[in-house]
Amino acid sequence: MKFATLKGFKDILPDEVGNWQKLESAARNLFKSFGFLEIKLPILEMTELFSRSIGQETDIVSKEMYSLKDSKGRSLSLRPEATASVVRAYIEHRLFEKSPVPKLFSIGPMFRHERPQKGRFRQFHQINAELFGDQGPKSDADIIILAMSLFESLGLKDLMLNLNSLGCPECRPQFREELKNFLTLRKDSLCSDCVRRSETNPLRVFDCKMEGCKEIVVEAPPIIEYLCDECRNHFELLKGYLQRYGIPFVLNQRLVRGLDYYTRTTFELQTDRLGTQNAVAGGGRYDGLVSLLGGPDHPAIGFAVGMERVIALMEGQEEFEYEKPDLFIAAIGETAEKASFNWAMDLRKSGLWVEMDYSSRGLKSQMKKAGRLGARKVLIVGEDELTSGKGILRDMATRKQEEVQIEDIVNNLGQRT
Ligand code: HAM
Repeated sequence: MKFATLKGFKDILPDEVGNWQKLESAARNLFKSFGFLEIKLPILEMTELFSRSIGQETDIVSKEMYSLKDSKGRSLSLRPEATASVVRAYIEHRLFEKSPVPKLFSIGPMFRHERPQKGRFRQFHQINAELFGDQGPKSDADIIILAMSLFESLGLKDLMLNLNSLGCPECRPQFREELKNFLTLRKDSLCSDCVRRSETNPLRVFDCKMEGCKEIVVEAPPIIEYLCDECRNHFELLKGYLQRYGIPFVLNQRLVRGLDYYTRTTFELQTDRLGTQNAVAGGGRYDGLVSLLGGPDHPAIGFAVGMERVIALMEGQEEFEYEKPDLFIAAIGETAEKASFNWAMDLRKSGLWVEMDYSSRGLKSQMKKAGRLGARKVLIVGEDELTSGKGILRDMATRKQEEVQIEDIVNNLGQRT
């Protein structure tokens, strides 16, 4: 039997890892200047955490979760997203007592049993950021600009910010009623799922991938017209912050974002370079979720970046420069080999990438190996060199060789190129 990765799952091989590291370190640097701290969360949680947060009628919960029963008969699920887990941790560890505005980021895999296609996987990775404890539009702008800045720092500038507001528990019910009436009149053209959703959770009809339903929602009443004064004011102030900072955006009334927890602002960064899976990041405000999960009545806003999609955009850019070994030690003879083993270990402690031969081969094949690894320099040591405390250092680019004091090798290696 031959084993292979499961459909929708993929290996990230060493020659792809460079861009992943570049993306992660760009995110980490940026998060630092925006005051975000890292949190690492479990991949497995109680299923109910997700069904309560994301919503029973959403595609994610009703169709896409990897769930299992444990030996006690409890239903557990692989996390399909990070927000619910961050909120659980926020409440469980009373993180609000540690800072007035806790800002948390996390990086890791998510699991959704979707139909795999270009840019859509069953295991994918997100960079996730959440800001708690502030309800004003300045934190919406802060979060959106953070997301935009990440892409800018990677040289990805052609993304379009889509913006919407979904209102609050004050004004949403009226919109919901209007939408329900609108959908009921068109019931015969909706798919069976949407006929049910139009009764139970009409906003979810916007997520439907069926052509007939997509055509119908284009005509649906625009949510912005139903916002209460407070929500409208919040949205206007947010737009003002973005405009003053020079961030272009489009209003997208269909942006309901597939998860039930959103209130007010929702946003997505979209590209036209990836086909139908065009969202590289998405997020929004979720002022009711912390209390819904049993915590204090704290507002929050956040977003997640789909790492595979960002990597796909980065692939068109300049090649990533892979690091190469600083030094290869070619030892000839048993005594030299033993001594070089210790030198290699000591040199590695000073942060250098040091390679050596593991199988007592001749000088020629060791030099060949050093060449294949792309080592910058090779230190050649035999019995004679050992007694004199000197070795021969060969620069692999210029092919120049010089005699060096072995003790002084770190200085001789100089700056990394
Ligand atoms: P989401 O829109 O479901 O939001 O996912 C965020 C991003 O993850 C998407 O824009 C996309 O780039 C990526 N993504 C989602 N599903 C897949 C998939 N099957 N394959 C590849 N990439 C995918 C959330 O998850 C929210 N928790 C975001 C958030 C944080 N809202 C507030 N805080």
